[in-house]
Amino acid sequence: MNDNEKTEIFVTGGAGYVGSHSILELLKNGYSVVAVDNFSNSKPGKDQTMPESLKRVQCLAGKELTFYEVDLLNKDSLKQIFQKHTFSCVVHFAALKAVGESCRVPLDYYRNNVGGSVNLLEVMQEFNVKRIVFSSSATVYGVPLYLPIDETHPVGSTCTNPYGRTKYFIEEILKDVSKSEKGWSVILLRYFNPVGAHESGIIGEDPHGVPNNLMPYISQVAVGRLKELMVFGNDYDTVDGTGVRDFIHVMDLAEGHVSAVKEILTAEFKGCTAYNLGTGKGYSVLEVIKAFEDACSVKIPYIIVDRRDGDVDSIYADVSLAEKCLGWKSKRSLKQMCEDTWRWQSKNPIGFRT
Ligand code: UD1
Repeated sequence: MNDNEKTEIFVTGGAGYVGSHSILELLKNGYSVVAVDNFSNSKPGKDQTMPESLKRVQCLAGKELTFYEVDLLNKDSLKQIFQKHTFSCVVHFAALKAVGESCRVPLDYYRNNVGGSVNLLEVMQEFNVKRIVFSSSATVYGVPLYLPIDETHPVGSTCTNPYGRTKYFIEEILKDVSKSEKGWSVILLRYFNPVGAHESGIIGEDPHGVPNNLMPYISQVAVGRLKELMVFGNDYDTVDGTGVRDFIHVMDLAEGHVSAVKEILTAEFKGCTAYNLGTGKGYSVLEVIKAFEDACSVKIPYIIVDRRDGDVDSIYADVSLAEKCLGWKSKRSLKQMCEDTWRWQSKNPIGFRT
């Protein structure tokens, strides 16, 4: 048994897209993983015990993990898990994440995302587990004042929707907690736009209903589940008028989580630090469509429609801090993001239900 195998990591929202890919990387790096999920955006396996995504993660890793169906709003169930295990660190993914839905039912978002996080932190405090890696988002930056955007850019004031504000509020809560007593270590990972899938095509993103985000929408058009893509606006101040984003391969993101876990487990790491996880390069919506068509030899029919509320022209990351402090850098190209998305989608046209 190596040292990592004795290190138990508690992962919330483990069945989801970024959670499942990150667990795979944690297992491959020798860590023991205990994951929870409430199945709000994932599918239970046939025997109802382990989510299908995590069953597949176990196969890919050649290693088992422990899973409990738990909602973070149920504090007693959380406590029971902390009684059974000795965690070195928590990686907190669990959250509702649909921007449009968050505008319709903001209180659901505040209760679930903010309330769930407060419960988790209280249980961590009670059991003296004080290291947490938090799944945040570039959405906390709101409308960029400059590009590329670095971690010192103001956060919160121009967030365009309740979902984004939950991420911002949780970051603020974590900062306050880390200042309130000794021993807390907090890493905030601000993801840009995660896309792609594990290169095997065995796990990937499986959104409920019609996808809100660009890449899953494109891949569902490619596979014939949706008729055509709607491009939200072509009059932005960008290279071709369509929105520009920093798309990052989910496996790069997963590796970023392992780097963050390694960092937070060092004796030197203290307090609270935010890191951007992106590639540092922006691509427009039309560039992504073209890259997908080239990489996958499929045609993506699309129409231009009005702008979507809350969208910004361009946003891409300054990723130098993560490289300097975590020793992490994204490696995978847009071509690979498209190829891997397509491998997953074409092998699993209806996601984990196949
Ligand atoms: C959104 C969220 C972000 C979240 C991220 C997850 C905001 C404002 N955005 O980012 O918080 O972390 O998803 O990946 O909070 N587009 C189309 N047609 C579509 C879908 C998207 O043209 O059907 C365009 C959008 O207008 C945008 C680009 O594609 O220019 C990317 O959109 P999307 O994938 O939804 O990501 P973001 O809005 O950047």
